[in-house]
Amino acid sequence: LAIARPRDIFGSERLGAAGYDLNDARTLEQIQAGQRAFAAPYRWSAGEGNVRREIVNPAIPDEVVGECYEADAVAVERAVDVALAAQPAWERLPVSERATALRRAADLYEENTAELLALCTREAGKTLGDAVAELREAVDFLRYYANRALQEKPGTIARGVIACISPWNFPLAIFTGQVAAALVTGNAVVAKPAEQTPLIAARAVALMQEGGVPHDVLQLLPGDGPSVGAPLTADPRIAGVCFTGSTEVARIIERQLANTAAPDAMLIAETGGLNAMLVDSTALPEQAVRDVVASAFQSAGQRCSALRVLYVQKDVEVKVLDMLKGAMSTLTLGDPWDVATDVGPVIDDQARNDLLAYCRQQEAAGRLIAKLETNKDGRFVPPHIFRVDGIAEMDREMFGPILHVATFDAEDLDDVIKDINAKGYGLTFGLHTRIDERVQRIVDGVEAGNIYVNRNQIGAVVESQPFGGEGLSGTGPKAGGPHYLNRFRKRPAKADTP
Ligand code: NAD
Ligand code: ALA
Repeated sequence: LAIARPRDIFGSERLGAAGYDLNDARTLEQIQAGQRAFAAPYRWSAGEGNVRREIVNPAIPDEVVGECYEADAVAVERAVDVALAAQPAWERLPVSERATALRRAADLYEENTAELLALCTREAGKTLGDAVAELREAVDFLRYYANRALQEKPGTIARGVIACISPWNFPLAIFTGQVAAALVTGNAVVAKPAEQTPLIAARAVALMQEGGVPHDVLQLLPGDGPSVGAPLTADPRIAGVCFTGSTEVARIIERQLANTAAPDAMLIAETGGLNAMLVDSTALPEQAVRDVVASAFQSAGQRCSALRVLYVQKDVEVKVLDMLKGAMSTLTLGDPWDVATDVGPVIDDQARNDLLAYCRQQEAAGRLIAKLETNKDGRFVPPHIFRVDGIAEMDREMFGPILHVATFDAEDLDDVIKDINAKGYGLTFGLHTRIDERVQRIVDGVEAGNIYVNRNQIGAVVESQPFGGEGLSGTGPKAGGPHYLNRFRKRPAKADTP
């Protein structure tokens, strides 16, 4: 368990790289200057393949942010050939040289703050606050894994060529974290970013290469899952897959590896969640409501860690719901580069249509508690709150700003915990209570990777709060934690030359 007590954990002291404070006028002006410098008609480009995909701004779907030239199965085979040839020399380098390349890349990310923040807002629809956090996390991953690698004990060897497959919702941080971990341990990487966010990935790769990672050791293959991800994970020469994304795709990859990969191929799969929070009658309502709003609606609910089902003790239901409705009504839904925006767009039309169809269906079933009224067109989904009897009613992760609320009696606490565990997911869990004995009982009972007490349940910080789930939510080891790098190395078999 990673239990985050109610301390002020905003970034670790040694890491917390970019350190931007949006409340500081000068800092904000610098960030906004960057937004202007990289605003339309500025366009980025990624990839070298034959299939052209236009990347548009999720907040303004008519605005083209760049072009991606996607790879195909032939390019996958070629990239693995090149990576296999380049990997041994990279592994033979002293670990300090690989760590130095990552540290230089971290410095370069910071030097390119304006561009990376602009990309996060224009390609991925991140609000400025989320974009800053994203960049900070990416830089933290680079420095943290570089530091950890230097502390490694001898006796293990790199695995070979690792396929890194990442999602669009942390297009810089998760992409960078996976790649950095694989590289610093001596592996070569073929990286496939999400098809929605290849431009950010391409800039990240360019900066890592500028930092000293050889081009053949780190190759980017943009494209969609079936065209690039599937042939990549089916290539028997891949020594392992580092995947973050949905539980459904993780299952496909797991089956694929079982069919084609070497017996000792590794799989790290960090996946989705059906995350709950429990607020009892002793909780401080203002604090709880603030944390519910952040957990459910920040990043437009597009975080694996986001709160999906809130359990409120019946005695305080009316008060908490009134406050929650009030707090939700003050949220500003808008363009992500506007500093006043709390909730930006969702990633694409498919996500928007799916989420809005779900909201209409829940509303028709008479479950609506409240929704944010808005007339904003485009890929926006206003925050909604629906009533449910419990998490058992939910059959999938709704990846957007949609919160479900259930109630419980104090004597039913054990049943609530049982229900939450019965879903089989286990990513984050939040708890608001002032009863210490209850904290212990619930923390002991809930099966979740990251449990947060009397605070929000999003935004894990590298090193301070290693992040990852159990059950259907992930294989471990936790990203940003002390055991993560171990999985990228193995004990040498007799036939392997160290
Ligand atoms: P997704 O599973 O649709 O896609 C993730 C990646 O897998 C993409 O790069 C995609 O192209 C690729 N892919 C798709 N089909 C593939 C196949 N057959 N073979 C190989 N690769 C394939 O997920 P998404 O929509 O990009 O991201 C959102 C999901 O990610 C949510 O479920 C969220 O909870 C999860 N997520 C988990 C974590 C975590 O740390 N646990 C972090 C972020 C996001
Ligand atoms: N690591 C991300 C968070 O904690 C997903 O919100």
